[in-house]
Amino acid sequence: MFSASLLVFLTGCSGNQSALNTHGHSADALRDLIILITVVCTVVWLMVVGFLLWALARRREVPRRDSDTERKMALSIRLAIAATILTVAGLTIASFYTTRDLNSSNGASLTVRVKAQQWWWQFAYQASDQEPPFLTANELHIPVNKDVRLELEALDVIHSLWIPSLAGKLDMIPGRKNIITIRATRPGIYRGQCAEFCGLQHSHMAFVVVVEEGAAYQRWVAAQAAPAVEPAMAEASAGKAVFMSKPCAACHTIRGTSATGTSGPDLTHVASRRTIGAGLLETTRGSLAAWIADPQTLKPGSNMPLVPLTSDELRQISAYMEELR
Ligand code: CUA
Repeated sequence: MFSASLLVFLTGCSGNQSALNTHGHSADALRDLIILITVVCTVVWLMVVGFLLWALARRREVPRRDSDTERKMALSIRLAIAATILTVAGLTIASFYTTRDLNSSNGASLTVRVKAQQWWWQFAYQASDQEPPFLTANELHIPVNKDVRLELEALDVIHSLWIPSLAGKLDMIPGRKNIITIRATRPGIYRGQCAEFCGLQHSHMAFVVVVEEGAAYQRWVAAQAAPAVEPAMAEASAGKAVFMSKPCAACHTIRGTSATGTSGPDLTHVASRRTIGAGLLETTRGSLAAWIADPQTLKPGSNMPLVPLTSDELRQISAYMEELR
């Protein structure tokens, strides 16, 4: 029974969103601190319980209070106070040095501006000094073994950025810019999550972090910086016309088209992302259609309104979205 529950408990330590299975310099330091504190506290707890049981087992008549007993008791109390101060001071110093080094950086090679809002994430990249920045949503790509500086801003309420396997967490406060430096040490796909309760859909405010080798990362940047391609299929072409004629274009940008809205996520390469709705659904033609058809059932309270569409229009818009790779 105990080993079964231990197994269930430890399964939660692996995976792509785990503060104990880490692949980033600051998350590694935090993991070591968690383990140190857990081990020290466990040892202290075992000692206290051990002494308590020992004292209960050899319970006897209260001895006469002579000067020898008084002296022993005073010494015991002094020892207990000294041990407590040493333990607390030791853990405080370890925490201080760990958190002080969390943002250590050898000079960031890349800066990404992160904007959090109810309930999704916008990531703004500058491909080169000459080009304007490109935007993506709910999917952060970074090169492996490089310091990446994230400039964090919140647009409405307090959010918090946390990528347990890589870094964090750091609060995002409206009107303030917070900076966090992350360095991932292994390519892979990780999951980030808002870590500050920010309203009804707080739990559906996740994002994907893709850590790539340099060449793969550069290919991704080149693809994202390019404007949207013209739809190939007739159905997608019709979908583009529907998209531009409906309120969709007032909230979303698709670079290379007349859609320039800024209140919703940039959709220029929406189908290249692994999820939609901030980690809510895997991106497929079906999930895109379901999301457009009834966003308020899938994510009640979100800013995506229900836009009345005929079934043909819904099919066409979904086909168009699916071609935005
Ligand atoms: Cu944003 Cu919780």
